[in-house]
Amino acid sequence: MRMYDIIKKKRDGYELTSDEIDFVIKGYVNGKIPDYQMAAFLMAVYFQKMSERETYDLTISMANSGKMLDLSSIDGFKIDKHSTGGVGDKTTLVVLPMVACFGLKIAKMSGRGLGHTGGTIDKLESIPGMRTNLKEDEFYSIVRDIGFSIAGQTGELVPADKKIYALRDATATVDNISLIASSIVSKKLAGGADGVIFDVKVGSGAFLKTVDEARRLANLMINILRKFGRKASAVLSNMDQPLGRMVGNSLEVIEAIETLKGKGPDDFTELCLILCREMLDLAGLKAEEDEIYDTIHSGKALGKFADFLRMQGGNPEVIENYDLLPVSSKTMDVRIGESGYVNRIDAELIGVASMLLGAGRVKKEDEIDPGVGLEVLKKVGNFVEANEPVARIYVSEKSDIDSAIKLIKSAYKISNDRPQSPEILLEVIK
Ligand code: URA
Repeated sequence: MRMYDIIKKKRDGYELTSDEIDFVIKGYVNGKIPDYQMAAFLMAVYFQKMSERETYDLTISMANSGKMLDLSSIDGFKIDKHSTGGVGDKTTLVVLPMVACFGLKIAKMSGRGLGHTGGTIDKLESIPGMRTNLKEDEFYSIVRDIGFSIAGQTGELVPADKKIYALRDATATVDNISLIASSIVSKKLAGGADGVIFDVKVGSGAFLKTVDEARRLANLMINILRKFGRKASAVLSNMDQPLGRMVGNSLEVIEAIETLKGKGPDDFTELCLILCREMLDLAGLKAEEDEIYDTIHSGKALGKFADFLRMQGGNPEVIENYDLLPVSSKTMDVRIGESGYVNRIDAELIGVASMLLGAGRVKKEDEIDPGVGLEVLKKVGNFVEANEPVARIYVSEKSDIDSAIKLIKSAYKISNDRPQSPEILLEVIK
């Protein structure tokens, strides 16, 4: 087999065999296929697409490129969740403790933020002492003890994705449904859970801008996982404006804790309740809405979160004392000087603004500042007076304040008519 022939075959629109796909993945991971050939292959896939069968084969080859977690030492239904990435998305920090209150087990591998979207590991590491680099035994033991644990994705799991994702990022081949599905599902397969719920974000702050595309991705990921005998379902949720109010690492931890105390923003709280309900449903557990909300109301989920911090070296006192988190004390209000209803907030621009303040990375190697970010003071449907701020930024001396303010102002569209507040839940796919 020659890589040249496989590139040509895909370029000309033909379906590849399982062996050809496996040859590409093995060859790229072991260094026999160079970046320039893999880049050409990815571009051919981007334009000619892959069938569901090819995507399935690509997923198997990628999952088999590294280690697979074995969760058999953990009793009970092991569930995982995956968000396709958004702005202000801190759902994992709230939903995992809620779901653990029902006895489900979650051994969650999470990533860091890149570009305009944030990552759970960066958020957790803003908590003093918090460890996310766990040995496998410790990871499983925490899940057995308290129901869940969150660890950074190790290089041993799906090395093919690590390498291919970096190349896709540099060659404008990220936004292809087969490449996204194989990247996500291979990691979920290697993660070893019995069932996975996908939170597929749709809108200006998401990879996928339309419900149609999101639905196609969700169905593809669900079908592939089911072929492997795993359970799966998906929630399509709105990312046309930032989720909740806080964007930035420590700021999002505070908002997650407030939500666990029952004082979170409505859209974010609603999404957490929906995800919890769907995770229970996937595991075959039915719970009334009151019972799900009771995990928050009773303080049980907050207690689980405190246990989680203790187990992973984090200071649980942050729950009662936010001063222990490294939030920047230097803030500035952003005004747009127009009055009217907020009609639209381009979530991607808000995400990029937060990144320019230092909360995210332009490149993988960049250091982030856990204390910077922004608070969205006005959301879609809110009225704003000309002299009122729409956002508050938390800055450091390294923040690109001028560019961030410009982006925030351009993200807001004001109108005279009051728009409907967008629904957070767009669709559930089972
Ligand atoms: N998230 C992933 O893990 N992979 C993709 O390709 C896109 C989003």
